[in-house]
Amino acid sequence: MTASRIEPPADLDTVRTSYDRVADNYVEMNLGDLTTYPWLRTAIDGFAAAVHGLGPVLDVGCGPGDVTAYLAERGLDVSGVDLSERMIEHARRRHPGLRFAVASATELEPAESSYGGILGWWSLFNLPRDVLSQVLQSFARALVPGGHLILGMHQGDGERVRTEAYGGVPVAWTTYLWQPDDLWALLAAAGLAPVADLRLSESVAGVPSLVLVARRGPGPGVTL
Ligand SMILES: C[S@@+](CC[C@H](N)C(=O)[O-])C[C@H]1O[C@@H](n2cnc3c(N)ncnc32)[C@H](O)[C@@H]1O
Repeated sequence: MTASRIEPPADLDTVRTSYDRVADNYVEMNLGDLTTYPWLRTAIDGFAAAVHGLGPVLDVGCGPGDVTAYLAERGLDVSGVDLSERMIEHARRRHPGLRFAVASATELEPAESSYGGILGWWSLFNLPRDVLSQVLQSFARALVPGGHLILGMHQGDGERVRTEAYGGVPVAWTTYLWQPDDLWALLAAAGLAPVADLRLSESVAGVPSLVLVARRGPGPGVTL
């Protein structure tokens, strides 16, 4: 089956420039450090255990690559891609043994059944809802049967237009907030089955956080 091309969002270049601009502060503020967020780290640990041995893992929107490196330390064959060239420069400098590339989630066209795991770890919230739907479908196709997708999102209603971020750096992007049921509906439409749903009142960026894990194909299930 061939994946159809995803039309890039109209503001993609503006979003890229904004992340290029905030990248130095993002690294300086150590915002990719999972040890700051014990519940998030627990979710990533669960994901790492679930995809272990299933094949390569792709960290989409990896930023400076700290979560990518965390997964590599746990024995995964993981690489990272990010929209922002400056973020990828940081990732390559900080984690020279790992593979990173500049690309948008909308242009990856990953091959069918090529990944054991895919992350959209606080990196897909700038995508308009219809574009995210198409991206999730491409990720679902790219997973091997039993492969897992983990998403980190901001929870809430509507959108927030951001004009500054990460220490007052001027940016121009829209953050799409998600209600869990709406995101689950997109994942189900992509053919992914629910695995885990973590709703945190703990804020990552001023709003509650949401971590969803879904898998391709039916789960093995446990009967007690
Ligand atoms: C909040 S940072 C998170 C970075 C990383 N996942 C982490 O946890 O440290 C958001 C990242 O998503 C990237 N991003 C935004 N839109 C993207 C897109 N369409 N494709 C790929 N990466 C994107 C940004 O460049 C930025 O590095």
